Amino acid sequence: MNPARSFEDLVRWRRDVRRFRSDPVAPEVLENLLGLADLSPSVGNSQPWRIVEVRDQHRRAEIQASFKRANDQAADGYHGQKAELYGSLKLAGFDKAPVHLAIYCEQDGEQGARLGTRTMPEMLSYSCVSFVVTLWYAAQVQGLGLGWVSILQPVEVNSILAVPPNWTLIGYLLIGWPEEEHEVPELERAGWQERTPASARRFVR
Ligand SMILES: Cc1cc2nc3c(=O)[nH]c(=O)nc-3n(C[C@H](O)[C@H](O)[C@H](O)COP(=O)(O)O)c2cc1C
Repeated sequence: MNPARSFEDLVRWRRDVRRFRSDPVAPEVLENLLGLADLSPSVGNSQPWRIVEVRDQHRRAEIQASFKRANDQAADGYHGQKAELYGSLKLAGFDKAPVHLAIYCEQDGEQGARLGTRTMPEMLSYSCVSFVVTLWYAAQVQGLGLGWVSILQPVEVNSILAVPPNWTLIGYLLIGWPEEEHEVPELERAGWQERTPASARRFVR
């Protein structure tokens, strides 16, 4: 499949990737992705996303340990067959992904002069999600995979990465060349959760 063939292909083939080849991602490729994602929409044009590229192996190991603790705790919340299935899922790809990015939201930056955030301050975080989604598709165009890891304690990640206190964690992203491509989400293939019909999420008033 040529992932750039059409927008429909892009949307249908974008996956959350956790199985990477360990080949490096050229710095100029990453730079290009981040530059495109930086054009994402943001409330008041605030661009509140802050990107920490985690290169230090010691910090990477600490984040992975944080994931393991959070994942073990999450596993304890399931019982029986569901617990067995949860234990079999691969929910991150720290070991091989060449690029690790922690995406943060600066909650009280000057840019945008608070337009659109007085009644809904969470719009800053939503803007950062739009950054991640653009990055996800930009990666897919290049044949790169992105995995979004949320099974982490933000307090631990903040401390490991020594970020300012007014930054909140949006997600930890792993980027690299995928081992394989699929049109069906990994969680669906594993029998955890299928997609449900779009009609169930549409309402008219
Ligand atoms: C906000 C967000 C957080 C996610 N966190 C995780 C995670 O911690 N671990 C994981 O394996 N997948 C995570 N995912 C990926 C979802 O499981 C995945 O998007 C979903 O199963 C649909 O699969 P697809 O992205 O391949 O279409 C996350 C996705 C989103 C949007």
